[in-house]
Amino acid sequence: MIDTRSYLLAILTLLPLSTFCAEMSNTVPLELEKSAHASPWKRYSTWRQSNWNNYCNLRQGITRPVSFIQTIETPIKGSPANGKKLIANRKKGNCVACHILPDVSLPGNVGINISTLGIWQRPDDFLFNHIYDPRIYNHYTVMPPFGAYGILTKAEIKDVVSYLQSLKKVVEFDNPVDNPEKRPVPVEERDNLDEFENPGMFALELGEALFNKRGSRGQSCQDCHENPEESFARWAVNMPKVEPRLNKVIGIEEFVTRHARATTGAEYLAQSEENLALAIYLRYLANGQAIAIETNDLNTQIALRRAEDLITRKIGQLNFACTDCHRLNAGKWIRGQHLTNMVGMLDHFPTYRTSRGEIWDIRKRFQWCNVSVRANELPPDAPEYGDLELYLMIKSNGRILSVPGIRH
Ligand code: HEC
Ligand code: HEC
Ligand code: HEC
Repeated sequence: MIDTRSYLLAILTLLPLSTFCAEMSNTVPLELEKSAHASPWKRYSTWRQSNWNNYCNLRQGITRPVSFIQTIETPIKGSPANGKKLIANRKKGNCVACHILPDVSLPGNVGINISTLGIWQRPDDFLFNHIYDPRIYNHYTVMPPFGAYGILTKAEIKDVVSYLQSLKKVVEFDNPVDNPEKRPVPVEERDNLDEFENPGMFALELGEALFNKRGSRGQSCQDCHENPEESFARWAVNMPKVEPRLNKVIGIEEFVTRHARATTGAEYLAQSEENLALAIYLRYLANGQAIAIETNDLNTQIALRRAEDLITRKIGQLNFACTDCHRLNAGKWIRGQHLTNMVGMLDHFPTYRTSRGEIWDIRKRFQWCNVSVRANELPPDAPEYGDLELYLMIKSNGRILSVPGIRH
């Protein structure tokens, strides 16, 4: 008779030693305890600092219910002059982000042209309620619930209604670019890999230097990875991926933070200059390769299901989902900004943004798209952003990686 213990021992001695060694060396060293960003997370000082705790974001809260129809006295006697100010005020109505209205430059066309609304004979109380909460009339609308979500007061909505009822003349565009139907779609033609054209290329130099720099433990990346051009020639086109030890999707930026802590001892916090530089360098090594995220893996499938929920979730005071702008209205204009669809969004990140004079990694772009709909952003290493990055990177599968990018 052979007992279980000696049976197991017999099997273990039969297995070649290399089985264990291979497993050991495959485990990429990662620091797993600390957060990858400066904590507590604080929004960039140059961004709008409002706090939208009362509205849901990608992590917490749920979309508020559709409002009841408000009973109001008609005819509405608001101030058309104030209404005219509100429709173009970015912090208030900003109706021109989506609607053509008189006397504004670069109106958008996500909504219909309402510049002659005054002759449509819409009842005042219908217009009031349509602005108060358009979801009453169309559950799937992308127009924000201005009254129900406290963007405009009832008095302000009345002013807007009085202004809209005064509009009778079709808008003529003196300058053709003001017409969203005719406005030329921006095409990025600058050579992103030319250091004279793309200031983001400076980060590459820094990234290379950091790869050779010794950390507090006396070693550099180079000491363990002698030939990065070869060993990492494809690594970046397979990222991000699910990291089971952290139970989330991690991207290249977070990998850099955690792997450096565990190896060289260097501290490259998320969105620091050094972190961006190394993340750009590691992608640069795979430039020219087709993005190839493995999609059959079960963990990836589960992450993708979470991402489907996240991209369609209505968030923030303006009540937008990613898909409202990047799927339903892709190809249209939101004020002067042309909305792109989700294919090919991530083949050029991190990207130098000329309009801001800074390099943005993918997570910072997500944060911006949250704050601009008045939803609290999440920290850069948030699991939710990991799911979104994975989802969008898969939408870029087959496209050629070209980093650092350059955009307006
Ligand atoms: C994010 C884009 C967006 C913004 C911002 C927006 N709308 Fe709309 N609006 C729409 C869309 C899309 C429609 C088409 C119907 C629908 O989807 O509900 C619409 C429809 C309307 C209608 C209905 C016209 C009719 O009677 O058929 C009115 C009135 C209107 N918007 C007024 C406004 C006003 C006033 C503001 C600013 C306070 C505003 N909208 C802001 C997208 C927008
Ligand atoms: C003490 C040795 C050591 C140092 C120093 C080190 N690494 Fe690594 N690195 C490893 C090991 C071990 C692995 C896993 C086996 C492999 O892929 O070579 C790894 C894997 C990687 C991978 C591939 C990860 C994957 O998912 O397969 C990248 C990229 C990488 N390292 C980059 C870096 C960078 C950047 C630095 C400097 C911040 C660095 N390494 C410093 C030991 C080290
Ligand atoms: C109110 C509209 C709006 C919403 C909602 C929105 N975005 Fe954006 N997003 C934009 C605009 C405008 C741009 C810049 C123009 C463009 O590339 O579409 C942009 C750009 C981006 C880019 C960069 C595209 C590129 O090719 O460089 C990414 C990635 C992105 N958004 C992701 C998201 C995600 C993920 C969500 C949901 C969490 C989201 N956006 C929600 C308006 C929006």
